[in-house]
Amino acid sequence: MPFQSTIQRFDSIDSTNLEAMRQARAGAPEGLCIVAREQTRGRGRLDRSWQSPPDAGLYLSLLLRPKFEVPAWPLITLMAALAVRDALVKTCGVSADIKWPNDLCLNDKKLCGILAETLETSSGGAVVLGIGINLTPEILPLVPAEATSIESATGEKPDGEQVLDGLLKSIAGNYELLDNAEGREHIIREWCAHSSYAIGRQVRVSLGAEGFEGTTRGLESDGALRVETSDGKMRVVRAGDVTALRSVLS
Ligand code: BTN
Repeated sequence: MPFQSTIQRFDSIDSTNLEAMRQARAGAPEGLCIVAREQTRGRGRLDRSWQSPPDAGLYLSLLLRPKFEVPAWPLITLMAALAVRDALVKTCGVSADIKWPNDLCLNDKKLCGILAETLETSSGGAVVLGIGINLTPEILPLVPAEATSIESATGEKPDGEQVLDGLLKSIAGNYELLDNAEGREHIIREWCAHSSYAIGRQVRVSLGAEGFEGTTRGLESDGALRVETSDGKMRVVRAGDVTALRSVLS
């Protein structure tokens, strides 16, 4: 059956991810999409918070109950980044770069963050795919300096509903691809084609207090990033933060 979403809207909520997880535990089906105008406890990667003032961003979480093998689940965030990129091209004329693992950036400034959280429920494993897109500049004073919004880039206030509609359509198309090996390879290829971080980028990888530098060398089949260090060793990065070295130095 093709992927279908059912939207539930909130004026204000702690976090759309938390609400989707609550409903997942209560048995909600795949396709539930929680959208809020404001989040009071928005969650980011690596235990960070995600500032979510009213109507300044698109804040949504989609409940997925993937049928494919768990080792391929990390590809969900890659396909989501591609879907966001596609929706922003189609609805706002914005062509964003994808930064590993799943940020969307314009001129190296963050435009969108994606947080996929897995959980066990009585009806099996589930993924809550949370997506936050900066729509207007009102959000920028609240987030780190390296951020931007669609309105800042285009000079026009985007229609959040159109972006949401385009995004859910793109996700519906991309998600089905993950069911088989060919589709997964396609997602990896597309991700690499639309990310300046995929191949040959000098980066610093931060893993908590530790880190290292190297040159990116593409993705593993589960979406992990290959980074070659100066001594010729290939390291495979599955967690942590990746920063372009030029922006670290500038
Ligand atoms: C990141 O750290 O880059 C990921 C940010 C993800 C933010 C979105 S906003 C909607 C959803 N609900 C949350 O609490 N977080 C995600």
